[in-house]
Amino acid sequence: MSANDRIQIGIIGAGGIGNEHMKGFQATPGAVVTAVTDVYQPLALERAKQYGIPNVHATYQELLQDPRVDAVVIAVPNDVHAPIAIEALQAGKHVLLEKPMAMNASSAKEIVKAHHKSGKVLMLSHQQRWESVYLQVKEQIDKGALGRIYNTKAGWMRRKGIPGWGSWFTQMHKAGGGPLIDLGVHMLDLSLHFMGSPKPVSVFGTTYAEFGPKRKGIGDWGKPDWNGFYDVEDLATALIKLENGGTITLDVSWAANTTFQDNGPYIYLMGTDGGASLKMGQGTLHTELFDRTADVEVNVPEGDEGPRIRMNAHFLECVREGREPMTSAMSGLANSLVLEAIYESSRTGNVVNLDWSLD
Ligand SMILES: NC(=O)c1ccc[n+]([C@@H]2O[C@H](COP(=O)([O-])OP(=O)(O)OC[C@H]3O[C@@H](n4cnc5c(N)ncnc54)[C@H](O)[C@@H]3O)[C@@H](O)[C@H]2O)c1
Repeated sequence: MSANDRIQIGIIGAGGIGNEHMKGFQATPGAVVTAVTDVYQPLALERAKQYGIPNVHATYQELLQDPRVDAVVIAVPNDVHAPIAIEALQAGKHVLLEKPMAMNASSAKEIVKAHHKSGKVLMLSHQQRWESVYLQVKEQIDKGALGRIYNTKAGWMRRKGIPGWGSWFTQMHKAGGGPLIDLGVHMLDLSLHFMGSPKPVSVFGTTYAEFGPKRKGIGDWGKPDWNGFYDVEDLATALIKLENGGTITLDVSWAANTTFQDNGPYIYLMGTDGGASLKMGQGTLHTELFDRTADVEVNVPEGDEGPRIRMNAHFLECVREGREPMTSAMSGLANSLVLEAIYESSRTGNVVNLDWSLD
């Protein structure tokens, strides 16, 4: 840590989300961004200038050796999440790792093992858990106001939102999947969190690719590469069974002929004593009173600092206190196991049981 006790952050990957992290950590008290790297050096140099970051490294390996870095943010394509996270932990750095944890469950398990050995903090970057409305709803759940949540319907159905057509985003060997691994991971993470983090045990699902291969459904995140290709799904649907008897239905698309849920993220929680409808950071709580339905709106307070600042502050607190973060390595593994099982179920047509063993 630096003289004035701020945690020194190194950013690995200066693209779309790396930029958000630089902005976010600059605005978070107790942190200072001291280093950045990107395989595309002009971008790292440009961001360093923009944010006044003093050290630009040629490679992530070089950044990991920098003593002016206590913790790293890993904001690179999915195929390099696991190798970089493992090396960072071995180099004694705390890690804030972008979602999805890894390309597949076996790589996620390798990260979990490296994390156990390291004694460092490993946190997954799921900023949606830090939305003000979601925090308020979770508080009610933790007080028992919704009873036992036995069914959750979650998803994110974009009508025209394929990111970076032809780039790493749409290539299976670099991304590990399409909207399921990109958007579905957020909604699955939130669903399990709201339901009290029960272990998922089995999955039945199907994926489709009806738009991407035809170069249709293109959105505006990421840069298209028309020399590239598209071999991931553009829609996925699944039923996930949990060890406590609960179920989650998950529906995601990058492209589909629908305006379902206004193309944004949604979660409906069904509890024995109450429920919640959450859509794009807004929410309503539901229950039954005097034989009638009763709804209470949950709002974002005025002047809210936003989810990213809260997520970053939590990461810094965990680093300072050596605490396990809310989006822990095991929560990342749960997500990876489910996502991989949905792809396997789609390929085989069978229900897939999750293998939680670390060997
Ligand atoms: N939490 C969220 O809501 C959210 C949103 C968008 C993206 N993401 C995740 O963030 C990650 C990056 O996505 P993005 O949209 O920023 O992609 P991007 O393509 O805009 O940026 C990735 C950057 O990583 C760089 N890079 C690639 N390999 C590298 C390496 N070995 N070392 C250093 N730099 C390297 C690339 O040059 C590029 O600049 C993905 O895993 C994605 O799933 C998360």
